[in-house]
Amino acid sequence: MIVAGVMSGTSADGIDVALTRIQGRGFRSRLELLAHYHFSYPLEVRRTILATMNAASASVADLSRLNFLLGELYADAMRSAQRRARLECQLVGCHGQTIYHQGIAKPYLGRRIACTWQTGESASLTAKLGVPVVSDFRPADMASGGKGAPLVPFLDYVLYRHRRYGRIVQNLGGIGNLTAIPPRAQPDDLIAFDTGPGNMVIDAVTEQLFGKSYDRNGRLAARGEPLERVLRETMRDAYFRQKPPKTAGREQFGREFVRGFLRLCRRADENDIIATATALTARSIGMAVRRFVLPMVEPPARFREFVASGGGTNNATLMRMIREELAPLKIRVRTTDDLGMPSEAKEAAAFALLAYQTWRRLPSNVPSATGADRPAILGKVSYA
Ligand SMILES: Nc1ncnc2c1ncn2[C@@H]1O[C@H](COP(=O)(O)OP(=O)(O)O)[C@@H](O)[C@H]1O
Ligand SMILES: [Mg+2]
Repeated sequence: MIVAGVMSGTSADGIDVALTRIQGRGFRSRLELLAHYHFSYPLEVRRTILATMNAASASVADLSRLNFLLGELYADAMRSAQRRARLECQLVGCHGQTIYHQGIAKPYLGRRIACTWQTGESASLTAKLGVPVVSDFRPADMASGGKGAPLVPFLDYVLYRHRRYGRIVQNLGGIGNLTAIPPRAQPDDLIAFDTGPGNMVIDAVTEQLFGKSYDRNGRLAARGEPLERVLRETMRDAYFRQKPPKTAGREQFGREFVRGFLRLCRRADENDIIATATALTARSIGMAVRRFVLPMVEPPARFREFVASGGGTNNATLMRMIREELAPLKIRVRTTDDLGMPSEAKEAAAFALLAYQTWRRLPSNVPSATGADRPAILGKVSYA
């Protein structure tokens, strides 16, 4: 079956479309990437999404408008991708844009409520493309007691499990998240969680200090040196010590966090500040691997590869810092590109694979990763 995955992550940089061919069932599915395209959001759209995600309150009318606007933009992206690839898909999995995610239940009006919200109207996509669309993947996992995230471990297991050694698959999107797959793992053996910021803090600091939306290829950070004092202080944040499963978003590493981080940096050199934000991502990954991943398998040396994906793999300074963190652990750093999947396409491909499972009425959450009590069939279908 030809299935498209449409992804727009917390960076709110734009829309990734992956066109894939999928066969098989469940964890034994086979996925082949046929094409991948990235469509940047217009600047005003990006600003609006970021403002909405950071807002303590937003008008219901605006949220409703944004939902339908994104539906149109996803449809345009899909049509353009299909035209360029000369392919027509039979099914679409559309993640939508997360505007709020609270994976852990908290008291609300006399009950304990966990909640999540991905926006981007799938009915618009179905109407424009004439094929069924699966969307809204997270709530079914949460209704089964899970945190609704991460969902990509299903794809990680399908693509990257290895018979002889363990792999750590790390995505560097707005947030950083990893899936640790021990050698010969069963799906229940996976550990997956958000390590902390991926590019989110780097982007925010670069925007504030240099007026640019991201540190292209890590050049600004390369000209600075991390401020060890700030790094140590910031790493004391409770999130990094919390045991998995755990998820993070702008609620943890958005505007408030960045304000505190910049306060700690005081009047340090601007390049040093970018370098420190970059080192924070690398260090939080190093700490997560040492504390939560290596103790999983005896002997620990059996985790031999770290496979990175996401926009952050283009940040050469970040990748160097991650290499330096993991070298003492004898873990080799690669990217999914080395293993045949362009690093920007992976998350979009994951939602194609999840949509395919849903279409076949198969579950696709990984309970060991999300903390759910049971397997769940994810998403809602808009029928053509
Ligand atoms: N050439 C590059 N140099 C440095 N960083 C980059 C580059 N390209 C992309 N990025 C980073 O990757 C981010 C987007 O990554 P992505 O995987 O799409 O994240 P998300 O899933 O959160 O949208 C950008 O916001 C930017 O920080
Ligand atoms: Mg993105």
